[in-house]
Amino acid sequence: MKSKILSLSALLLFASIALFNTCKHLTNQTTANTTMKESIIYGKLPPDSAFEKTINGKQVHLFTLKNKNGAILTITNFGGRVVNLLVPESSGKMIDVSVGLGSLNDYIKSTERYYGATIGRYGNRIAKGHFTLEGKEYTLATNNGPNTLHGGKIGYQDVVWDAKKLNDQSIELTYLSKDMEEGFPGNLHIKVIYTLTDDNAMKVDYEATTDKTTVVNLTNHAYFNLNGEGSGSILDHLVQLNASNYTPVDSTLIPTGKIEPVKGTPFDFTTPTTIGARINEQNEQLKNGKGYDHNFVLDKHDLDTPIAIVKGDKTGIVMEIYTDEPGLQFYSGNFMQSRNVMKYSEFDVYRNAFAMETQHFPDSPNQPQFPSTVLKPGETYKTTSIYKFKTK
Ligand code: BGC
Repeated sequence: MKSKILSLSALLLFASIALFNTCKHLTNQTTANTTMKESIIYGKLPPDSAFEKTINGKQVHLFTLKNKNGAILTITNFGGRVVNLLVPESSGKMIDVSVGLGSLNDYIKSTERYYGATIGRYGNRIAKGHFTLEGKEYTLATNNGPNTLHGGKIGYQDVVWDAKKLNDQSIELTYLSKDMEEGFPGNLHIKVIYTLTDDNAMKVDYEATTDKTTVVNLTNHAYFNLNGEGSGSILDHLVQLNASNYTPVDSTLIPTGKIEPVKGTPFDFTTPTTIGARINEQNEQLKNGKGYDHNFVLDKHDLDTPIAIVKGDKTGIVMEIYTDEPGLQFYSGNFMQSRNVMKYSEFDVYRNAFAMETQHFPDSPNQPQFPSTVLKPGETYKTTSIYKFKTK
């Protein structure tokens, strides 16, 4: 009898240890993992609570979108930004290909302001923070040497957007950028819709209207590493761009105004080439950009043909980008300086991430030969960009 009681209590003890361990294991997992039985997630999703805060009277949250394959896109309305983007590699393992930070406080403190963010009112640079429109001169806030970068001192990456989840796979963000905010004319009503589609694509739809003639150039500044955030250098990623021309820049990264062929230069990505293959060549343009930080003039931009195809060398994950925008700013992470602690505790090490910003050309308000970025009252600014992930 005594031995029976003893073995029963041993069994109970064993069962409770097992239960404890299972619970501990489960709480260490992401919420996503519980719905994806077979897959393993590389890294952890931040808890929603890491993004709960009121800023200037507006509530910030982290929103989670999921598709039928278990892919996950998390978005915070602070800066309308992508936080996590988990897509499957061929083994079914989920890889977080979005490079960024792990909490709202980290995003607020970060020395790099643009991780994953919606960029505006004007993506990339406007020379000397100055342009003339309909005969009127406008002076903008400058924040990048003599120039205005990504909309000025407080761009859209630093404001709280209004958010409305449309369904499990889409979220709508809206923001009113007031007349003369950072020096830009016109009240600009902006709507950005992020959708995680069932073919593992992040689709971003932008819309804007104004009450005064203005200039607009919206983009997204997701930083990618297709081997997974925290996995090291992007220099062995293969890149192919549907661009026979690019816009060379001066030493402050303002386009010289010329459109030049990429043929015979380190900017020729018309066939798949690694980012690192020519990045350190002696070349004046690479010197000005400190690597790749240039606008590529897209041969086709019809949403049917990929304008960029990038492949992670370790995971084999392929990202295809589609856009109706005429340009692509390819930035190879040259200003990353290990100053910020990232989601998976890695620093933002030099060239451990790249950005592919679909947009109009930099400095178009001062370069009449470039496609126009002018938006007038009564018109609707409407563009779409798609980042589609495949395993081969
Ligand atoms: C710019 C880079 C800049 C980066 C900001 C890119 O669009 O062209 O020069 O450093 O954004 O993080």
